[in-house]
Amino acid sequence: MEHLKKTCESCQKCALGATRTNLVFGTGNPNADLMFVGEAPGEQEDLSGVPFVGRAGQLLDKFLYAVDIERKDVYIANILKCRPPKNRDPLPEEEEACIGYLREQVRLIRPKIIVCLGRISAMKLIKPDFKITKEHGQWFEKGNFLMTAVYHPAALLRDPRKKEDMLEDMKKIKEKLDEWKDLD
Ligand code: URA
Repeated sequence: MEHLKKTCESCQKCALGATRTNLVFGTGNPNADLMFVGEAPGEQEDLSGVPFVGRAGQLLDKFLYAVDIERKDVYIANILKCRPPKNRDPLPEEEEACIGYLREQVRLIRPKIIVCLGRISAMKLIKPDFKITKEHGQWFEKGNFLMTAVYHPAALLRDPRKKEDMLEDMKKIKEKLDEWKDLD
């Protein structure tokens, strides 16, 4: 993982390599059973090099706490490792340039459950026509792991009515994780 991080740190495969302050590689337990994948770093993440530390990240922390999951036990990464200017959506060519690094992270971590944070991540990792309003919280079997998507925490900041669904989805994720632990 350290070797992969070093490779990413010098990456200039897309234009974002020239504008980043810091690479946001990913953090957490490299042997995690549960992995979260967001969209792309925002301003605070670009400044600190750590994913989900801004307002959206602090809200994510609250939901993790609410279902008794510790941030240090999970792994958190993004589709893109560098911040797009003004937090615009990732461009297809940026996703293509970067996705191989995420694939390698997944291969090394071998999580049991991958949770997409938001529509962009779900469209890239689960299926291109993923509808977050309809399909959040549903399970999809992919290869050796289960996948699901929840609302992006930034969407919850914009529309707090979605928080109820988020809590239900997070509870289901915790239940599924505990089922796996019982089998181990
Ligand atoms: N939003 C994301 O999708 N990822 C981050 O790391 C921060 C905000």
